Amino acid sequence: MKSVWFAGSAMIALALTSCGNDSRERKVTEPAPVELEEEAALDQRVADARAAWAAKIDLTERDKFTYANYHEAVVRHVDFDLTADFDVKVLKGSVVLTVNYIDPEASRLILDTNQLTVDSVSAITNEGPVALDYKIGQQDPLLGSPMEIELPSQYEKIEISYRTSPEAEGLQWLNPEQTANGESPFLFSQFQPLYARTMAPLQDTPAVRITYSANIKTPPGLRALMSANQDRGPLDGDYRFEMPQPIPSYLIAIAVGDIDLIDIDDQIAVYAENYILSASADEFSDTPKMMEVSEAYYGPYLWDRYDMLVLPPSFPFGGMENPRLSFLTPTLVAGDKSLTNVVAHELAHSWSGNLVTNATWRDAWLNEGFTSYVENRIMEALYGVDRATMERSLDLKSLKRDIEEAERPALTAFKMPEDLAHPDDAFSQVSYAGGMFFLKFLEERFGRETFDTFVKRYFSDFAFQAITTEDFLPYFADNLWAKDPDAVTREEIEAWIYEPGLPLTVEDPQSDAFEKVSDQQAIWLSGGDANDIQTEAWTTHEWLHFINGLPDDLPLEQFEALDARFDLSNAQNAEIANVWYLKAIVANYEPAFAPLEQFLLSVGRGKFIYRLYQTLVKNDRRGWAKNIYDRARPGYHPIAQSRIDEIFN
Ligand code: BES
Ligand code: ZN
Repeated sequence: MKSVWFAGSAMIALALTSCGNDSRERKVTEPAPVELEEEAALDQRVADARAAWAAKIDLTERDKFTYANYHEAVVRHVDFDLTADFDVKVLKGSVVLTVNYIDPEASRLILDTNQLTVDSVSAITNEGPVALDYKIGQQDPLLGSPMEIELPSQYEKIEISYRTSPEAEGLQWLNPEQTANGESPFLFSQFQPLYARTMAPLQDTPAVRITYSANIKTPPGLRALMSANQDRGPLDGDYRFEMPQPIPSYLIAIAVGDIDLIDIDDQIAVYAENYILSASADEFSDTPKMMEVSEAYYGPYLWDRYDMLVLPPSFPFGGMENPRLSFLTPTLVAGDKSLTNVVAHELAHSWSGNLVTNATWRDAWLNEGFTSYVENRIMEALYGVDRATMERSLDLKSLKRDIEEAERPALTAFKMPEDLAHPDDAFSQVSYAGGMFFLKFLEERFGRETFDTFVKRYFSDFAFQAITTEDFLPYFADNLWAKDPDAVTREEIEAWIYEPGLPLTVEDPQSDAFEKVSDQQAIWLSGGDANDIQTEAWTTHEWLHFINGLPDDLPLEQFEALDARFDLSNAQNAEIANVWYLKAIVANYEPAFAPLEQFLLSVGRGKFIYRLYQTLVKNDRRGWAKNIYDRARPGYHPIAQSRIDEIFN
């Protein structure tokens, strides 16, 4: 392991490539033909598959979750000038968009908006501002409203004065009493997948990349942070940010609150409210090692700093890979680093997702699948094969569950169907664990060394671009498969990418540790004493495996016996508590319900609470659950509110 970190450090010195202006969106040229000489040598099977895959590349394919006319005119830079007004819970001010024209005839710019109030639109010219006509179309509940700006001339800079709505789905405004210190309010964003348009009029699609700059005003004493270089000056309520690397709009991010920081090293800091700051810095103290490992495997980190922000408990995700500043749920701070795979995951997005981006949400697996694979490699390098295997084993279980529960088979292949109803449907374990197991399969067939070289090159060849599954496949054929045509078959590859269900070539992770847990569980289930279960050496993962493995018809006395010995109903580790509550709901195990209520009132992480509410409703606890939800709802993030409203409607 040491040597890996050493190799990493050497590599960091190897030039940070420039990445300012030469970024491209989704490729607008045909894929480069294979060199003639190579083509002659190309195995027929590889050549045939390659041709078939390349034929599927559709250069006219558009992200259907945006109104933007990004094939005619494309926004390259956004300059925000905004004030966070906590009294009315709005961001107000202006944006200046820098536009490039692809179509010389383009006479309009169409942007995405959602619940924005626009006051004026003008072009910035040498002769001063020129007012522009615009209209805002009908509101769609998912997509918001198109904003169409008339362009009598192809102006380079367009200024829009506007304000957000207090109901903006991408922004949560917390009252002081909803925060840890009880005194200062808090604001944070969550823009993936479609919510950047609730913060500003933008081309809100992963196919378009922008750089950005921002002036943000807040009440003095509060700190503002963005997914950019941080302004570490005085807390005077006036902050300046620059994001020089081009990013898709869903990676814009902002947070404002009573936030402090601890530097972990000279590249990495942890930001959080004071109550959890030092615990967070301890919990995430291995992040520098994660960085070294990732760079050693996948090439230099191209984003300058890597900071982390621990959000209030209503943050609806485990983590969000906002560039330079990952957002994290406080439920990761378990005290024993058992949940830091989420940090590895968000860091991994610095390569997969943030560098190489899915061009449409139908290709989300390219983003989350590669990231889950890299995450698992980081965990293996830091904590060993056993932990990485346990994590994959747990992932396989949830992958199988998601495949079983999928609303339709088309949602269980990687490439999402053309009529994908909501981007969220592309973010099941099919994309995450499925993508990871696909890459594990390739790693196994081609050998780790060859595969690592391939992945590293893939990240650098497509850096700062957005690609589709159909861009990936010919690239894979040319750069990996061609090296060893016998390693895989076309059918095997296509089974993963285009066919529903779990492919036959999926790994079955063999964890000795889990086997031992299962053995002990079997003995106990067949009449053993709970006091004989040897759990001293168990990690969180072994507990998760143990609880997941409990039969649904476990008698209540058995629940009681486990609780008496291990107090699982009051587990402090949120992952353990979550799976225990799921079992308890199905079994109607009463003693877990009071702590479950507390959990639902204090944690807003979607991964936990959506399924808990769903399971409650399915198991005749609708009234009880609704009563809790009514009280918890005001504290949940708008994204979580919408999702849970659906469960009850
Ligand atoms: N980018 C995702 C979070 C996300 C996905 C936000 C889809 C909005 C739409 C993030 O990287 C993520 O995957 N987080 C996971 C953690 C991970 C270890 C699986 C989470 O939040 O649980
Ligand atoms: Zn992710």
